[in-house]
Order: sequence, then C-alpha cells, then structure tokens
Amino acid sequence: MNLISFKSDLINGNIVCPGDKSISQRILILGWLLNKDVTISGFLNAEDPLSTANALNQISDSIQINGNEVIIKERTIEPKDPENPIDLGNSGTGMRLMFGLISGLGIEATLIGDDSLSNRPMKRVADPLKEMGALNNLNRGGTPPIEISKGKIIDDFVYEMPVASAQVKSSIMLAAIAAKKSVTVIEENPTRNHTERMIEYFKGNIEISPIWSNNSDSKYMWDEFKTPNKFMGNKIIYKHKELICPEHYEVVGDFSSASFLIVAGLISKSGKLVIKNVGLNPSRSLLISILQSMGGQITISNERKLSNEEVGDLTVSPSKLKGFDDFKLSSEVRSEDVIPNIIDEIPILCIAAAFAEGSTMLGGLEELTIKESNRLAAICDGFDAIGINYFSDRKSSIKLYGNYNKDIDGAEVDSHGDHRIAMSFLVAGMRSKNGIKVRDCKNIETSFPNFAHIMNSIGMKINEKN
Ligand code: S3P
Repeated sequence: MNLISFKSDLINGNIVCPGDKSISQRILILGWLLNKDVTISGFLNAEDPLSTANALNQISDSIQINGNEVIIKERTIEPKDPENPIDLGNSGTGMRLMFGLISGLGIEATLIGDDSLSNRPMKRVADPLKEMGALNNLNRGGTPPIEISKGKIIDDFVYEMPVASAQVKSSIMLAAIAAKKSVTVIEENPTRNHTERMIEYFKGNIEISPIWSNNSDSKYMWDEFKTPNKFMGNKIIYKHKELICPEHYEVVGDFSSASFLIVAGLISKSGKLVIKNVGLNPSRSLLISILQSMGGQITISNERKLSNEEVGDLTVSPSKLKGFDDFKLSSEVRSEDVIPNIIDEIPILCIAAAFAEGSTMLGGLEELTIKESNRLAAICDGFDAIGINYFSDRKSSIKLYGNYNKDIDGAEVDSHGDHRIAMSFLVAGMRSKNGIKVRDCKNIETSFPNFAHIMNSIGMKINEKN
C-alpha cells in the first residue's frame, strides 16, 4: 500500500496518544505469565502487540482482545510446547521477549518472523540465554528461525551487557522471572526501563542502582570540592519473589508515536497541537529536550504517574528550529546515553532537522542500521529522493543540511518496509510543494494503526496512491 502526503500548513487539534507498543507487549507477557485474571486498558491494538498475544495464546490460550481493552483469564491448562512455529511477524521486541520467556518456562518452540525479522540479529539474546542454561539454535548468521529446546535456567546469573538493548535486557529478566530465579544485569548505557518499572509496580524485589567510577556508591567523590563521580551505568538486581499482578493495568501513550505528531506540529506554519496522555518515561523521552534545544516550542502539562510510568500532555506550536552539531543537554546526560534513549525517534528527528536552519550532526548510529530496516540507509535514500543535502557513511553517522523556510518539491520515497521510515517521510510531505509519495506503507499497522486518519484529523493531507 502506497500513501501520498500533500502540503499542509495548518496543524491544529487535540489528540489522545495511541497506547505504548513496548508496554503493551510487556504487560501481555507478564500478565499472562502471572496467571491471574487481569484487564488492560489503553492497549495498542496493532500488529506487533497482536503477534505477541497470538504467540502467548499458542502456548496457553488465555488472552482476549477487544479493541484497546484486553482480558487475561487465569488458565487451567499448564503452558505446553506449541504445535506449530510461533510467528512474531515484524516484531523484534515480540521475538526477543518471547525467546526469554519460553527459555525460562523450559518448553520447546520455534520462533519465526517476516522477511525483515528473519534478517535481524538474535545472537545478542541467544548467547546470554545459553549462559543462563537455556538451549537454543539459530540460523547460520545468527538470525531466526530460533529453535528453543528444554533447558534449565541457573540461579543468580550476572550479565554485563555488551550492547545497549532493552530487548536483550528484558529477555534475560523474563527468562529469570519465568524460571523463578534471581538475576543481575549490568548496563553501561541505560535503555528503556519499562520491564523494571512493571516489576516494581508488581511489588517485585528489584533494585536498580547507578554504578559510579572508583566503585564508590556515592554520586560525589569524597574530596573537599565534592567533585562529581563518573556515572558508569546501571546495576539491576532482581531477586526472585512472587510478583503480584494488579487486577487492572492501564497502558500510557506511546512517546514514539507522539514524536510524529510533535514534529508535524513544530514544522507546520500555524496552529496549535495538544497531545494528551503521552508516556514521558525519562528513559524514552529525551527527544523533547533535544527539540526544545533546537528551538521547538513544546510545553508539558498535567504531569502524573500512571502504572508506574510518567505521563503528561504536550502542547506543540510551530517553531523556528535550528540544527546542532552537538546537543546542549543538561550535564546529567552523558552524550553516549543519548542515542539509546532516542533510538526509535531518529528518523523523525532527521525530518525535523531537515526543516531546521543550519546543519545537524548525528553519530553513534550503528544500532539504527539493524532495526526493521537499515534505517540510516533508508533515511539517506529518502533524502536523495526529496533533495535534502547530507553526508553519511550509512553505517554510523549523518550530517544533514536543513532547508528552513523552503518547502521541498516533492518526490517518491521507499519505506524499505519500515513503519517509522514511512511515517517520517509522510510527515515531511506536509512541507512539499507537490506531495511525497511513500511506497509500501503497510507496516505502519505494526505500531500506529489509523496513522493517516489521525494525522489528517489535525490538518495533514495523506491519501492512498497507486
Ligand atoms: C524496544 C527496545 C528498543 C526499540 C524497540 C523497542 C523494546 O530496541 O528500538 O523499538 O520494547 O524493548 P533495543 O532492544 O535495541 O533497545
């Protein structure tokens, strides 16, 4: 399915942010595992969470989905080896989290996915799970299908993460929880912490402590100047104790989905956009500070906590954005921690930068090349098509030159079958004279169903196109 997005100057309205994908998948898995009656609201009814629900139901059927409401029923049948391979579709999160869960349950299963998922690296999960005592086999090249056989998870496994990945971290923790064991994960670069937040919310025994240089447990050195100690990462210690699942869980809005709305509001010429119920977990929402430091007018109101996650309403106004070579963020944020925090928002940040004054430099993007597509290459191809100047090695960095105040002509862009690339270039279309056609937009359904409808309701002009 191809979509075309035409010029639209006025972005105005009041939108409730769609449910968070990462959290929807985690609450399905933990709710199912804890085997109590639980209802979920605000659930993201999109292909990725749905393939996770189907995967769980294949092991033991207890999840019913009605739109954005979910009912998980206490099961009478024990989890069993699924009869057929479990298909996780396009979802890397679904596959990696289910890999951990199934390994911890000690059952046998084969995990498969679509063409994109079949090319994504799984050794990063398979290796630590094997060290924990799980048994698995990957395709040559370390990709799916994943064959999981019965193993036995050891107690008190300690894992120091070689890559910044919330999926790897969560997979290891889910394996331990399912096997009723304790585990410690050390992450040098913090990644989204929804799994840890959910364990805390379920009254689990989890302790997350910062690691300071010199092995000190203090934020400051014991010198007369109170010199700050260097932050070296987080140590996450989970001790097995029965988790208590609440009867009801409410999923907050997805910050990554909100980012497309935010940038549309910022690069518009007039209007005011209010986005309600946006998840603002600090491990996910650094993009707001980056856009604000570029001159973006974004204000946060009605801040509160829901299901142990920060949430608030955002008001976005048209802004004169400026590019950057280096983010000027608070001294609390290390530069190496920025990319893991905004990893899913980089394509839309590149679009914001494309309509900013001056150049923008982004580095440390290696992980971006192994997402649903090689997103860095896909951004470069898109920029070639729409006429944005840039330099990039297509492996780890991009320097791009903004087009502030000038609308682009229009062009045809390939999404590379990637939802976030498709949505990013559709947002760019609002600043094109003749429209941007984006080929292969079907995968928007994996994370943001009704994207075109919602964007059109605030003033964009997105239509289907042959
Ligand atoms: C996710 C983690 C991130 C992110 C992905 C969702 C998750 O990947 O890119 O879209 O739900 O845990 P990493 O595992 O690379 O951090």
